[in-house]
Amino acid sequence: ITIRRATVDDAQAMQNANLTNLPENYSMKYYLYHLLSWPEASFVAVSTDVEVAEQDEESDNANGKGDVQYVVGGKNEKIVGYVLGKMADDDSEEDKTPHGHITSLSVMRSYRRMGIAEKLMRLCLFVLCEGYKAEYVSLHVRESNRAALHLYRDTLEFEVLSVEKSYYQDGEDAYYMKKVLKEDE
Ligand code: ACO
Repeated sequence: ITIRRATVDDAQAMQNANLTNLPENYSMKYYLYHLLSWPEASFVAVSTDVEVAEQDEESDNANGKGDVQYVVGGKNEKIVGYVLGKMADDDSEEDKTPHGHITSLSVMRSYRRMGIAEKLMRLCLFVLCEGYKAEYVSLHVRESNRAALHLYRDTLEFEVLSVEKSYYQDGEDAYYMKKVLKEDE
């Protein structure tokens, strides 16, 4: 698994991962808005396992190269996780302090519990702080989302600031969480 900065070319795969993993979905325009406005603030985790094409057993065995695998298609990446980050840009917001926001984070089911989400989040927090000068970062998470709450509260030391009643379309409440960032930490 490799983690790298997300580009506009990744928008479709990020949207697909989001549709698979979360009920909160966004338009393609909103992904592109993130990737174009804050090009350093979003990351993808990619699996570079290559697909093995057919193997010509006879000729391989004949010259003693039975393990040689032929690969087709060149670059062969699969997006297994992403974090979509931004700076707050809503003029109507009360808090004018420069701050970042985590719009969405998810990791495909078979790649969970490997530390991928933590790495994605730490990279995003670092760039929002050092690159975009965010003084803190905020996010919303479902009250029932144990895995994400553990990651934010226990691993990354976000604090719950408030409960936003019926924040989600299905009526569930959200924890509004925040982490103060300090440069060079
Ligand atoms: N239950 C309890 N703790 C968990 C769980 C779980 N199911 N999953 C992960 N954790 C803990 C890990 O043990 C680890 O803790 P540690 O630091 O004490 O060792 C920590 O959380 C980080 O674990 P990672 O392996 O980095 O997390 P992972 O890559 O599995 O991804 C995530 C976690 C993103 C929440 C994943 O479960 C997921 O994609 N869930 C569905 C989508 C989702 O809920 N996204 C977050 C929505 S909120 C938002 O987008 C702002």
